[in-house]
Amino acid sequence: MLRKIFVTNALPYANGDIHLGHLVGYIQADIWVRFQRMRGNTVHYVCADDTHGTPVMLRAEKEGLTPEALIARVHGEHLRDFTGFGIAFDHYYTTHSEETRRYAEDIYAKLRAKGLIEERAIEQFYDPAKEMFLPDRFIKGECPKCGAADQYGDNCESCGAAYAPTELKNPRSAISGAIPVPRESEHYFFRLSDKRAAAFLREWTGGEARPGVRRLPPEAANKMREWLGEEGENKLSDWDISRDAPYFGFEIPGAPGKYFYVWLDAPVGYLASFRHLADTRGNIQVEDYIDAGKAAAAGTEMLHFIGKDILYFHALFWPAMLEFAGYRTPSQLCVNGFLTVNGMKMSKSRGTFITARSWLDQKLDPETLRYYFAGKSNGSMEDVDLNLDDLIARVNADLVGKFVNIASRCAGFIGKRFDGRLGEIDPAATEAFTAAWAADEIAAAFEAREYSRALREIMRLADLANQYINDHKPWELARQPGKDAELLRVCSTALTLFRDLARYLKPVLPALAAQVEAFLAIAPLDWHGPWQALPAGHRIEPYRHLAARIERAQIDALLEANRGSLAPASAAAPATADIADDAATAAAAAAPTISIDDFAKVDLRVARIVEARHVEGAGKLLRLLLDIGEEKPRQVFAGIKSAYNPETLAGRLTVMVANLAPRKMKFGLSEGMVLAASDPDGKNGGIHLLSPDSGAMPGMKIK
Ligand code: 2FM
Ligand code: ZN
Repeated sequence: MLRKIFVTNALPYANGDIHLGHLVGYIQADIWVRFQRMRGNTVHYVCADDTHGTPVMLRAEKEGLTPEALIARVHGEHLRDFTGFGIAFDHYYTTHSEETRRYAEDIYAKLRAKGLIEERAIEQFYDPAKEMFLPDRFIKGECPKCGAADQYGDNCESCGAAYAPTELKNPRSAISGAIPVPRESEHYFFRLSDKRAAAFLREWTGGEARPGVRRLPPEAANKMREWLGEEGENKLSDWDISRDAPYFGFEIPGAPGKYFYVWLDAPVGYLASFRHLADTRGNIQVEDYIDAGKAAAAGTEMLHFIGKDILYFHALFWPAMLEFAGYRTPSQLCVNGFLTVNGMKMSKSRGTFITARSWLDQKLDPETLRYYFAGKSNGSMEDVDLNLDDLIARVNADLVGKFVNIASRCAGFIGKRFDGRLGEIDPAATEAFTAAWAADEIAAAFEAREYSRALREIMRLADLANQYINDHKPWELARQPGKDAELLRVCSTALTLFRDLARYLKPVLPALAAQVEAFLAIAPLDWHGPWQALPAGHRIEPYRHLAARIERAQIDALLEANRGSLAPASAAAPATADIADDAATAAAAAAPTISIDDFAKVDLRVARIVEARHVEGAGKLLRLLLDIGEEKPRQVFAGIKSAYNPETLAGRLTVMVANLAPRKMKFGLSEGMVLAASDPDGKNGGIHLLSPDSGAMPGMKIK
């Protein structure tokens, strides 16, 4: 029976770029969706930006934008990146939508009616300078367990300890630097400690997505057992679902100044995006997918593709919210691990924190990454390593050397010698080939999201096809008189096999498959119905190059484009230093070591740009007036004209060296230097002025 499936990907936050770490899960989901559609199943595939919460609010403030303007811009960037990698959502929406508000309010009201919402006062850190409560990640201090400095309010990156922010030693607001003070506030809780919740979650965890398929990967089910405890034991705590103003989000009905916590409305965004899609299309029965009773009757499925870091939210809170509000619960969670690059955590200084955009900008084929990630996907929660040498080797050996090679060795003869028309195929060869033809096996691997197994099988078949060509040597047949019929048969057979390989690769390589369909002049390849040969007499298009090898230089350029570096943009003497996010490379890349006393000689200050103007006769310079809390603003000539329109600079904060010896220039005296980041060769958008986090004030010392 054909299936009806609602599929989602985790919603990326609306305050950062899409990077290759994100793409692991998106590519896995997109492949699965494409496969299901080729099988004839109905799939609705949606996503959205996760727009609410404190980080988005502060980021907007820092950029001098409203949150709405920031999320609108980021929405465009995210959608462009996903589209660039062939991730074809039916709808890419935003959680800042009326549909999200409606569903969030409805779920909240129903949970309340069931006695599952409770109000109680809690004590939290408050930033008296910024006048707001501080989320844990915006409080920094010394770890209460090991004493490591500069740790976040929820856990220590040095010793791994988890704790409450109130336990930190010498806590500071990461926003304003002020000492936070404990303050009481009323919060709303979802009563997960209610025994109905644990009972439901235990049953849900043990359930099946469909016969023989577990709802959760085994590692996730184990985690759930750990979180839920033994039968009869209740380890779940209530979940705080409200945040105080100022907060970018939806105000809770009947609770002025209280907002739904971003994690409450984020997964609700799945339903909202789907609803918006359905309202736009007009022919989708959303209720059949999301209403508990109707979904059961219609036999629909709901699958969420997520990263393992957000399992807690999707396996505990989300199913419980849905269950007790009368919605259908997720059929299955498909959980992926983290990405490492060359066996290590992604790193800006190594250039391995690779953005989706940079990959596309470097003109690397996005499908090579899809192919590589598919080859590393085995349906488990294991981390995925992108080894860049291995990427080059696999793409060049498999896609170019094996797959494309089949067409490039045969198509020319059909074009030149037979007017582009195929002949009868070799029944013996296809028989041998179909005997080995593991269509069902490959389909089962795609279904189980074991794409690595599917690709291994496909490449085994590609080897067989190449072997067939080697055995029959069309290039020799072409030179021998009277061998035309055999030449036509061998090439037609090989192209039929090539067509089938393209079919199996299509979920992974949709753009390449589309090129093959155009070249073979065939209807879009699907994966159901009886197998058919390409008919004799069928005319194909002239062969054009289908895929290029990856060259090492392209990968080097990619790493270079992603490497963080710091350079001054001032007219004063240049100096460079790497922004290293890992100690090992910092030591290798940085200038000779200096003492803390040496560093302390540089007086770095937060500066407000009071005025910015063009300088007549100066090609590169802007004249800035900088307020660092002194009586009179300082005049600085900065070499940032190529990157900034002076009108956009007035009012913003930056960083200046305040004790640099004044320098007499042709245009006047330069009384300091502003700091900016740039690549030595001017790539990556040129020059980027530094800015402090919001809350910093002109004149503050930087150390
Ligand atoms: O961790 C994250 O990036 C979240 N923005 C994911 C949200 S997924 C869903 F719940 F919306
Ligand atoms: Zn610690």
